[in-house]
Amino acid sequence: MSRGGVPEVDEIERVKETKRTRKAKTRKERPRIPTGIEKLDQFLQGGIPQGSWVFIAGEPGTGKTILCLHIAYSALKEGNDVIYVTTEQPFRDLIEQAQQFDISLLSFLKDTLYVVDLFELWESAWEAKKNGRVKVADPLDPDNLANYLRGICQEQRLEAPLVVIDSLSAFWVDKPAMARRITYRMKLRLARLKPTVVGTLQYAVTTGSSFGFGAEHIADGIIMLWIDDVQKTGEIRRHGVIKKMRLTNHYRKVFDYDIVEGKGFVIK
Ligand SMILES: Nc1ncnc2c1ncn2[C@@H]1O[C@H](COP(=O)(O)OP(=O)(O)O)[C@@H](O)[C@H]1O
Ligand SMILES: [Mg+2]
Repeated sequence: MSRGGVPEVDEIERVKETKRTRKAKTRKERPRIPTGIEKLDQFLQGGIPQGSWVFIAGEPGTGKTILCLHIAYSALKEGNDVIYVTTEQPFRDLIEQAQQFDISLLSFLKDTLYVVDLFELWESAWEAKKNGRVKVADPLDPDNLANYLRGICQEQRLEAPLVVIDSLSAFWVDKPAMARRITYRMKLRLARLKPTVVGTLQYAVTTGSSFGFGAEHIADGIIMLWIDDVQKTGEIRRHGVIKKMRLTNHYRKVFDYDIVEGKGFVIK
């Protein structure tokens, strides 16, 4: 209703409210990369928000690498480009491990999966040095890794790839106090690629906390994994929690999981 062509306050409010609701409805939801683990995807409202840096943190044997394999496979199946940086095991070992969980990465090689195998890079750096090249790029220098990744994206014309870095801790192995600075620098240097990054952080068995200081502060998301004190429980009992995930009303409780032959990471 209006008086003399002037809308009443109520009417103005109603129109404003309609506009607000319409805006909210048309606001684009951030696309997500599913992890491929059904329950974890439910916990994450569909998966990892594209463009975020997510760290999987935990002690050795908690399943960080296996979780990376699941996420990479799921992203590939969704049609994403994936760059997989492996510093802990040669890629051929990962392929073998993945096969035990029915994860077949091989078919994506030379298509949408690009592998940065530190073992191979190390070998070629060594060869170059042997052949008298004075300046050889150190594969464990985080700036070199960033350049390398940028090179792949440029050459292959990749946009917003998923970059798996297993492990990030390898890049500060001799300077743990620099972990935060190294990660931050990497984030800045890779920003132009608009990547989604899944990186693993190693937790020391002795202290149960991060090896390297402060890298977590750079994270948009942290999934933490641990095993109960086996000396008390007499068996391996695995637990995890989503400690942080920006843009996500995520599950907040500790979950139990296991690693199962033929299936991989299974949340109970
Ligand atoms: N085929 C398999 N079936 C069941 N569990 C397995 C199998 N292969 C490995 N595992 C479990 O996964 C663990 C290794 O997981 P991994 O992801 O490599 O750990 P992290 O990267 O955290 O060190 C092993 O210690 C073992 O408990
Ligand atoms: Mg590992």
